[in-house]
Amino acid sequence: MSETTAAPRSRTGTATGEAERNPAGSCAAAPARQGQGSVFLTGQVCSREQRRGRYTPESLAHPGKMLPAIARYLIATYTEVGDWVCDPMAGIATTVVEAMHLGRHGIGVEYEAQWARLAAANIGLATAQGATGTGEVVQGDSRHLPVLIPPDLHGRIALVVTSPPYGASTHGHVRTPGPRRGKVRKIHHKYGGDAANLAYRDHDELADGFTQILTGAAAILRPGGIVAITARPYRRHGELIDIPGMVAAAGINAGLRLHEECAALIAGIRGGRLVPRASFFQQRNVRAAIADGDPQWLLQHEDVVTFQARGGSPVAPQTLR
Ligand SMILES: C[S@@+](CC[C@H](N)C(=O)[O-])C[C@H]1O[C@@H](n2cnc3c(N)ncnc32)[C@H](O)[C@@H]1O
Repeated sequence: MSETTAAPRSRTGTATGEAERNPAGSCAAAPARQGQGSVFLTGQVCSREQRRGRYTPESLAHPGKMLPAIARYLIATYTEVGDWVCDPMAGIATTVVEAMHLGRHGIGVEYEAQWARLAAANIGLATAQGATGTGEVVQGDSRHLPVLIPPDLHGRIALVVTSPPYGASTHGHVRTPGPRRGKVRKIHHKYGGDAANLAYRDHDELADGFTQILTGAAAILRPGGIVAITARPYRRHGELIDIPGMVAAAGINAGLRLHEECAALIAGIRGGRLVPRASFFQQRNVRAAIADGDPQWLLQHEDVVTFQARGGSPVAPQTLR
């Protein structure tokens, strides 16, 4: 694997919020419900509504954003007000922004300049809306995470939350040239043009790179700190690619202790029934597979794999809460 520079390419978007109230009028401001067991009710509100007024409209262009409710649930569960949260693959800074609104301090690292700029804008917006925590984003390659995180934060990070990038087949939005006419065009499905972005590595290289990132995470966590990774299996040419399995192996190889595996719902639940929120491409791929005699299902959850750093007190699993 070719190495890229270990030095920070730039550090942007430092922001502080002092006010008590978050004026973002969206439902995203609702506090996370504690103790939901091993299946988190994080899809009650659709993703667009979760972000409305809380993230810049340009942020929609990112192909693989975490649901704000998932970030919020993990932060509320594993940290206290004033703690530090880090996302080494920060994208548009969902984790950092949700941490700030919950009175925690967030620091993110993002490889692509275009997403780092949007992340900085979202951090600025959170501050303007009265978030009580601070936030910042560093642009760089998180395979060298400890070099990118200021030394005074080493050993003080309570929680690392992130999600690895993977196959573009289920990402993006659709556009047609006219109403019900013409070929469907896919937009917003690319992370960036740089081949060093882990999104464009093959599965083994992604696994190696992600192991390096989690090794760095273990080095900056406080004793007993938590790492929470969300991931979904996806299909490439019909073959199931086990991204959650890759994540579990990466954490163990990074020296972290596997804590538990939970599920965060993307679907809502109303009156005891699932409200599916599948993308156009997911639906199309599953329909095509079923038509070919392969009985596939729509995935309506993210796997959440959690690890605990050595030292500190053991954290109770979600299933015991
Ligand atoms: C699945 S997205 C994470 C989205 C983010 N949690 C959010 O909600 O906005 C993965 C991100 O990792 C970034 N990335 C890929 N390789 C990276 C690397 N080596 N170092 C840092 N970020 C990287 C991609 O550009 C992408 O934005």
